[in-house]
Amino acid sequence: MDRATELLFYVNGCKVTENNVDPETMLLPYLRKKLRLTGTKYGCGGGGCGACTVMISRYDPITKKIRHYPANACLTPVCSLYGVAVTTIEGIGSTKTRIHAVQERMAKCHGTQCGFCTPGMVMSIYTLLRNHPEPTLDQLTDALGGNLCRCTGYRPIIDVCKTFCKTSGCCQSKENGVCCLNQGINESPEFEEGDEISLKLVSEEEFLPLDPTQELIFPPELMIMAEKQPQKTRVFVGDRMMWISPVTLKELLEAKVKYPQAPILMGNTSVGPDVKFKGVFHPVIISPDRIEELSVVNYACNGLTLGAGLSLAQVKDALADASLKLPEEKTQTYHALLKHLRTLAGSQIRNMASLGGHIVSRHLDSDLNPLLAVGNCTLNLLSKEGERQIPLNEQFLRKCPSADLKPEEILISVTIPYSRKWEFVSAFRQAQRQQNALAVVNSGMRVFFGEGDGIIRELSISYGGVGPTTICAKNSCQKLVGRPWNEEMLDAACRLVLHEVSLPGSAPGGKVEFKRTLIISFLFKFYLEVSQILKRMDPVHYPSLADKYESAVEDLPSRRHWSTFKYQNGETKKLSQDPIGRPIMHLSGIKHATGEAIYCDDMPAVHGELFLAFVTSTRAHAKIVSIELSEALSLPGVVDIMTEEHLHGVNSYCFITQTEKILDSAEVFCVGQIVCAVIADSEIHAKRAAKRVKIVYQDLEPVILTIEEAIQHNSFYEQERKLECGNVDEAFKVVDQILEGETHMGGQEHFYMETQSMLAVPRAEDQEMDIYVSAQGPTFIQDIVASVLKLPANKVMCHVKRVGGSFGGKTLKTGIMAAITAFAANKHGRAVRCILERGEDMLITGGRHPYLGKYKVGFMNDGRILALDMQYYSNGGSTLDESVLVLETGLLKMENAYQFPNLRCRARVCRTNLPSNTALRGFGFPQTGLITESCITKVAAMCGLSPEKVRMINMYKEIAQTPCKQEFSAKNLIQCWKECMAMSSYSLRKAAVEKFNSENYWKKKGLAMVPLKYPIGLDSRAAAQAAALVHIYLDGSVLVTHGGIEMGQGVHTKMIQVASRELKMPLSSVHLRGTSTETVPNTNFSGASLVADLNGLAIKDACQTLLKRLEPIISKNPQGTWKEWAHAAFDESISLSATGYFRGYESNMNWETGEGHPFEYFVFGAACSEVEIDCLTGAHKNIRTDIVMDIGYSINPALDRGQIEGAFIQGMGLYTIEELNYSPQGVLYTRGPDQYKIPAICDVPAELHISLLPPTQNSNTLYSSKGLGEPGVFLGCSVFFAIHDAVNAARQERGLFGPLKLNSPLTPEKIRMACEDKFTKMIPRDKPGSYVPWNVRI
Ligand SMILES: Cc1cc2nc3c(=O)[nH]c(=O)nc-3n(C[C@H](O)[C@H](O)[C@H](O)COP(=O)(O)OP(=O)(O)OC[C@H]3O[C@@H](n4cnc5c(N)ncnc54)[C@H](O)[C@@H]3O)c2cc1C
Ligand code: FES
Ligand code: FES
Repeated sequence: MDRATELLFYVNGCKVTENNVDPETMLLPYLRKKLRLTGTKYGCGGGGCGACTVMISRYDPITKKIRHYPANACLTPVCSLYGVAVTTIEGIGSTKTRIHAVQERMAKCHGTQCGFCTPGMVMSIYTLLRNHPEPTLDQLTDALGGNLCRCTGYRPIIDVCKTFCKTSGCCQSKENGVCCLNQGINESPEFEEGDEISLKLVSEEEFLPLDPTQELIFPPELMIMAEKQPQKTRVFVGDRMMWISPVTLKELLEAKVKYPQAPILMGNTSVGPDVKFKGVFHPVIISPDRIEELSVVNYACNGLTLGAGLSLAQVKDALADASLKLPEEKTQTYHALLKHLRTLAGSQIRNMASLGGHIVSRHLDSDLNPLLAVGNCTLNLLSKEGERQIPLNEQFLRKCPSADLKPEEILISVTIPYSRKWEFVSAFRQAQRQQNALAVVNSGMRVFFGEGDGIIRELSISYGGVGPTTICAKNSCQKLVGRPWNEEMLDAACRLVLHEVSLPGSAPGGKVEFKRTLIISFLFKFYLEVSQILKRMDPVHYPSLADKYESAVEDLPSRRHWSTFKYQNGETKKLSQDPIGRPIMHLSGIKHATGEAIYCDDMPAVHGELFLAFVTSTRAHAKIVSIELSEALSLPGVVDIMTEEHLHGVNSYCFITQTEKILDSAEVFCVGQIVCAVIADSEIHAKRAAKRVKIVYQDLEPVILTIEEAIQHNSFYEQERKLECGNVDEAFKVVDQILEGETHMGGQEHFYMETQSMLAVPRAEDQEMDIYVSAQGPTFIQDIVASVLKLPANKVMCHVKRVGGSFGGKTLKTGIMAAITAFAANKHGRAVRCILERGEDMLITGGRHPYLGKYKVGFMNDGRILALDMQYYSNGGSTLDESVLVLETGLLKMENAYQFPNLRCRARVCRTNLPSNTALRGFGFPQTGLITESCITKVAAMCGLSPEKVRMINMYKEIAQTPCKQEFSAKNLIQCWKECMAMSSYSLRKAAVEKFNSENYWKKKGLAMVPLKYPIGLDSRAAAQAAALVHIYLDGSVLVTHGGIEMGQGVHTKMIQVASRELKMPLSSVHLRGTSTETVPNTNFSGASLVADLNGLAIKDACQTLLKRLEPIISKNPQGTWKEWAHAAFDESISLSATGYFRGYESNMNWETGEGHPFEYFVFGAACSEVEIDCLTGAHKNIRTDIVMDIGYSINPALDRGQIEGAFIQGMGLYTIEELNYSPQGVLYTRGPDQYKIPAICDVPAELHISLLPPTQNSNTLYSSKGLGEPGVFLGCSVFFAIHDAVNAARQERGLFGPLKLNSPLTPEKIRMACEDKFTKMIPRDKPGSYVPWNVRI
């Protein structure tokens, strides 16, 4: 072979050549570290989040076309880039040159909050526009299916998309010829565009046009290379791996003979994650490039032949094309494949992954293999020996040697036969999330009736997700051949298949009963689908489906995206330059969108920098017998390994009331506990060595994982907290009914997009240490670092520029990790960086506390609740962290919007062997609030009333007192409720839902409305103090600093608005650099929705001090400029710098008496959601949500809307799809976006309407505004209760009237299993205790 060893590609129009590239290098670290293009972000490393999206452009010398496609840089080996052009976020526009229309609109439509996901989002939209300059909204939202955002709730990003569509502003699904904008519930429009009282948040007129002529051209050199240069096999040799890229089929086959065990690397979406997450290693990789034969699309006489090297996106295009060209009866299999290709992964993976890679990987949850198997596909193989064909059948899927590829063979193409008349193929899948989520179960089914007599001639059924690979129900199918297509056949088929495709109770992945149910539910759907077609084809011989059954075969409502926002800030004659109350774009919006915003890991390497990787416990409770470090220490690049011994004397820190060890190398109390830390000269070396640290454990008893186990072992932290009012016991004596029950609520992962990141830089002088960190409490970091370094705090400075999402997750644990990092830096006198991988982050840092609420409620038949006795248990994990504070806050807010005259609440934190749980947006209230609402829902059922009626009956009225005797006015609560009722047309829609439910058996709708009273305040005045520093420079510009952290909520933007108003100067004259303990000392944690409130008051104070000082100067020259005033002040020796301070709100709570005034004010709201569920699969779609909120005077309606929506979607995730799974040994399974599903763009309600009450109250808050970072999370439970309503409807129709117990999250599994029917009855059930389940409910 003639070989080349130079790698040549282009990045953003610049040529890159590499002669010594390491084949193990992925594009993401190459861009970030080598080329210093840090706009492309790391979010997960496994293709699941889209933060690393770049555009790849390839020129095809045969078609003369350039293919642009989105790719995940984290899974793209650099060696695969020969001859391609890579475009990153920096390549499409920048503030230094010219920003791109997508970047500009992303910022101006308020599509960024923390901004960490933004470059990936922009690149996905940009790439689509390169291919389709006028896309449809569906194309755009499809393009974003692989991009996750944890902050915005996606609505503003959809708005960005709409600006690029031909027809923007409308749903584009003109049902019955009527546009959504004109469709009201009662035929009249419910909302009018451009509502007069709502200022527009976006000025579309200002947008830059999309100008395709301005885009980077494809490098001509690459075109010439592709056309002219003789093709040579390229070989790259690294330290451990060799990469071979053959460019002809002959060379490929030769390489395969030489290295039969080497994988054929195509998209690397299967091999890559195995290497990264499972530690698989391949010394040789064969990666064919531009081999024509692998990309064929051939229409043969028996079927369509598709090259194995085609990407799944190209396969989709080819199948869509075939479906258009060929008669429908020939394209049954193609339609079924297309259905799955729409939801399989995200656009990036579909563009990278190849058909051959997909087939040969034989993943257990492959979406395509079940269909290809039932479609009788043929695999065309090639080796030096010649060609041969094998069927893609059960034996192949099971990797039987006789039916598999031989080591030296490659898959060249796949022939997918045309379907025949009277042949039908269907595809089914159900996943935790509707899009970009591996299926729990999927299936391909095919039947052939021969002459159309309704007698089964051939039947094939295959399932994914139910075994180690795709499973074919071959025997069952054989037994059914010859039977007519009727209900008896269906019944027999279900029984046979259940028997053949059997799943043990302890099957990996859990959800065993759900899977069994899906197996036959899909079969039933297939039966109905085929029956419907048969009826259409031959109405005389085949019976019609019952009308009520038709919904079983329909998909959930198609996507439409419509949103409205109404607000009124009152002051109509505001000064034009006053920025308060205006929808000012996020201060960093443009920088987020151009990738110029710097996050911790984007900081350039400091000379001599080291990297730190943690070694964590693999046991839930054990004594460490020994730690063997020598092997790890001997590896290249390893500098040190720090254990508890190194921290002798400084190894503990007191957080709130409990002292925690920083490193524990003696005993471990959970899987994921930090045992020691490896320091090496690079990230790769540190991580490699961390895997080689050998720890010998001796397991200890007990291992307590669940709340129930903690109760059993009496394993709790601190004393019980209690809140009581009235006389519960007496009240129980007079009530009409008493009900007892319990609700369990699962935890939640923060899933901030930027993982925990820190960089400690020791200074050569005076033992100073600078810590750059992504954290919510710089002062805490400063304290803990100073403590381990035995330095005074004035030597340690903590700097936080911005945080890529936090939600409560970057507090205590961040401090502990920063302390270890700083210790290492100090010890070695070199900078040390520590960036957690997503899986480590999820494993180590804990999340929201799971809760169990047990209640006894006494009520009258008219729905009045007179007595409530509640006991809460939260799962705190292995250390106390903030658990007691979370518990207390949840307790103080538990009654939500209701006046319970006699109430007794007790709460305890369970000490368990799980990673410690901590603060997460809402701080205990999303849990206690849900339990209260569940209890109300049950009371309503007992009284035969709607839950909304019982909510209204028990709601606070006018001036009221909370259980801790704090007085407040509930007027705005009632107003929110009433407005939400009216805005959502609740009554009309309730009737419409009931009508729908009476007409549809297998699909049900549900409607639910919940109120919100969210008290705002901190537990002490000291915790709410804030400070600021404002400098005016002689040129009249202003620098503002304050103690709050910018973590996406836009606090810096609001703070600039405050300074601008106070000093009456344009926003552009005010600058804010970031937060640092150097400029503002002794700050509190940023959180509790109060960051803008408190720091804004401090800035206001500083500005007023300055104005007071400058008043004589300004009054002498009232028409002067700030520059003139600053100079005059300087000349008169008047200080132009001032600190500002806010003492904090008065707050007290006496837990002995249960009385106090813990809150400053209350945010009120209400949300009404409507969902549709599929009773057969457990899928749900949020059709519409209406939210009304009282947030006082909005300082920035665009940012505030973003907080409401983002919190709502995060809450919706919490209550519906976000499910953490732990093994019975306490190991967290869900350690990345592949296993843990946060809402994606497909989860945005089809309609989302938000309205703010006009501000009515003047309070002593910042300009009468209210904090609202957290309250909206709870409103997500309106979706939970809407699903509850729908499930209830299904159950009642099936004659099930007993109490319905639904826990959170209400996943597809729980929905399906609650919709009991003949299929759930048919499945085998395992006796509890007869098997070890895969997971435990914690
Ligand atoms: C984030 C993410 C989400 C995903 N979601 C889904 C999903 O929703 N549904 C789903 O079904 N799948 C999903 N997948 C799996 C995905 O479909 C497969 O990883 C992909 O199809 C594999 O193709 P590839 O080209 O990347 O394979 P590679 O990783 O390049 O190769 C995989 C294997 O195939 C072999 N191979 C490849 N081509 C040939 C050939 N021509 N001849 C012989 N052997 C060959 C290789 O030797 C290797 O062993 C997801 C994957 C990721 C990373
Ligand atoms: S970092 Fe690449 S997809 Fe998440
Ligand atoms: S803005 Fe999308 S993750 Fe923060």
